[in-house]
Amino acid sequence: MEPRKLTDRVQWMGAVDWNRRLFDTLIPLPDGTSYNAYLIKGSEKTVLIDAVDPAMQSILLHQLKGVERIDYIVSQHTEQDHSGAIPVLLEKYPECTLLCSEKAKSLLIDHLLIDPARIKTVADEETLSLGDCNLKFYMTPWVHWPETMVTYLPEDKLLFSCDFLGSHIATTRLLAGNDPFVAEAAKRYFAEIMMPFRTFVKKNIEKIKTLDIAMVAPSHGPVYDQPDWIIRDYEDWVSDRYDNLVVLPYISMHGSTEVMADFLLTALVKRGIEVQKFELSTTDIGKLAMSLVSALTIVIGTPTVHVGPHPTVFSATHLANALKPKLKYAAIIGSYGWGTKAVEQISGLIPNLKVEVLGTTLCKGYPKEADFASLDALAETIAQKHREHFG
Ligand code: FEO
Repeated sequence: MEPRKLTDRVQWMGAVDWNRRLFDTLIPLPDGTSYNAYLIKGSEKTVLIDAVDPAMQSILLHQLKGVERIDYIVSQHTEQDHSGAIPVLLEKYPECTLLCSEKAKSLLIDHLLIDPARIKTVADEETLSLGDCNLKFYMTPWVHWPETMVTYLPEDKLLFSCDFLGSHIATTRLLAGNDPFVAEAAKRYFAEIMMPFRTFVKKNIEKIKTLDIAMVAPSHGPVYDQPDWIIRDYEDWVSDRYDNLVVLPYISMHGSTEVMADFLLTALVKRGIEVQKFELSTTDIGKLAMSLVSALTIVIGTPTVHVGPHPTVFSATHLANALKPKLKYAAIIGSYGWGTKAVEQISGLIPNLKVEVLGTTLCKGYPKEADFASLDALAETIAQKHREHFG
């Protein structure tokens, strides 16, 4: 796409990646993504905020064809989807200085082999005059890496937030409005990328809330022209509020664990609890991550493979542990052929989850009367904890 006007002095630039389906060779991108850069023309200085993924740098170079001079590039985050094209831009604009946080400097040198002489670091709340307007930098660590910062343009009440508050969507829409499709993509993005850093996210939300913001311009997805709702959603996701929800990821090899999962689901629903069930061999792990944002309880269902949990359950449990959702309770159910250490192994996989384990029901072969009774008792224990929580 060609550059697009955002305000009188700011243009959207960047690349829409319609075909990308995985981020970090891990995170599903069902709707693609975009790498947004923003060109700001002050009366004296011209600045580019972030760049694009190196695979798409030719698009940004084309958009910059008529731009004779860039005084500063601001690298808000070193991950390559935003910084990868910076080396070629520094070559194209030899007068240009690269601005970044103190922590980003060594990362930019290590990851992109940038000449340290081209880099100038900025401090928290440092201001840069562009003539008739100013940029103010705010350190916002851990959204997404330790070096991340955001940039505020007070004259336009515009906050450039890079990964923070973003969404993975390929779209021709410049502005998000209050589109529920963007809201869902933003929640998926939070779950997959920001949730592990919840404490920092909360602090950073508090920090940006001190600013008068008319628009938030992230480096993925459309610009928030009604930013109140995305900030409110983030406040909710990092809050202590829970949903009366059990998340039930599972695998079944010969049907026994499936029967157990369905029985438990029915027993929980009967007790007034919502259940979201995910068959892990086919599920979109982004949906699973989203369900974990505010769930009170997780129940992991696994058959036993070579004494341990099914490898797909192993992988999903490892991921859930890495995402550090605010879950309070957990349980494990499943079946085995002749022997199992699945419970011990799954328990060892979730040190980051500060959960109380409410019980385990493992059965040999197909579940029998005693196993169903055990599942019913587990449902009652879970329901009791939910009643205590929600009153
Ligand atoms: Fe969009 Fe952390 O990179």
